[in-house]
Amino acid sequence: MTIHDYDSVRAVSWSDEGLTLLDQRFLPAKVETQTIQDVIGVARAIREMVVRGAPAIGITAAYGVVLAARDRYAAAPETWKEALEEDLELLAAARPTAVNLAWALRRMRARIEATDSDPVRYLLDEAYRIHQEDIVANRQMGRLGTSLITQPCGVLTHCNTGSLATGGYGTALGVIRYGFETGKIHHVYADETRPWLQGARLTAWELFQDKIPVSLIADSAASYVMKQGTVEWVIVGADRVAANGDIANKIGTYNLAVAARFHGVRFMVVAPTSTVDLESDDGESIPIEMRSPDELLTLGSERLAAEGVDAWNPVFDVTPAELVDAIVTEKGIVLGPNRDEIAALMNSGAS
Ligand code: MRU
Repeated sequence: MTIHDYDSVRAVSWSDEGLTLLDQRFLPAKVETQTIQDVIGVARAIREMVVRGAPAIGITAAYGVVLAARDRYAAAPETWKEALEEDLELLAAARPTAVNLAWALRRMRARIEATDSDPVRYLLDEAYRIHQEDIVANRQMGRLGTSLITQPCGVLTHCNTGSLATGGYGTALGVIRYGFETGKIHHVYADETRPWLQGARLTAWELFQDKIPVSLIADSAASYVMKQGTVEWVIVGADRVAANGDIANKIGTYNLAVAARFHGVRFMVVAPTSTVDLESDDGESIPIEMRSPDELLTLGSERLAAEGVDAWNPVFDVTPAELVDAIVTEKGIVLGPNRDEIAALMNSGAS
């Protein structure tokens, strides 16, 4: 098998028909796509988790800007830029924690400001570039992250960070793909990732598609897996990396980092520099998305808890930098992240 054979899934694609998203709400039961033609549909798809995962959300929003600009320019070629502001705000508000969304919109905005004629081709070029750069970054992170793994081992991962969550290949799952291909990783334990079950429904499916050995575990089994000595690394992605190296990622990541430190298991965060937000001074300033209590109280159409019981459902948490052994980006690796190291990474020219 070649490297591409270990990366067969695509979540986001563009064609003359519009923006096509693999509808992640139906996986693994149904592989169904939806093609979206307008910005309202794109914002809804992000909000309702048709597409999810920090880089994939950013890429989707970039294509959403293309659809919005096409419609605004067709309706009013003299005033399309002013009208587009509303669409940019709509997209920016779709989900709060993954900073890749704001980052992608900033890139598109710079392009909008530099364009006066029909914007579609220019904006599509930029969206396409954001998409392709993400795949290249993921492959680079796959190699860099794997270089930290000294001997063949099992690893534990959380949420979904693969091709479904990115432009392709994946962040943490990119390291896992490359590590598997090069013989450094022989087995993956995937947390089911309550309550939305990204691990059970997406990661296990994605790894199974690509024939990478995976065992699904209950989130609460993670410490026990670590205690068995069968994993050397926990490898996760991030939705935002703060200036001091604190990490926001799917709820439960913090538990894993605490348990990993206790068991002497190393903790690797894999995220492109589009996920680093120097404006978030530390983890405290990262907005944490709260979602409906129903995600906890029901499973499909079935009620799990007694009628009348309430639930609290933050869907991300913050792992302090001191619990992170390595942050892997496409620009390089930061070992033992802190404010100075993150600043140096972001100022470095390497890519
Ligand atoms: O709520 P989700 O599914 O969008 O959350 C996704 C995650 O938390 C991922 O771990 C994160 O975006 C990194 S993925 C490349």
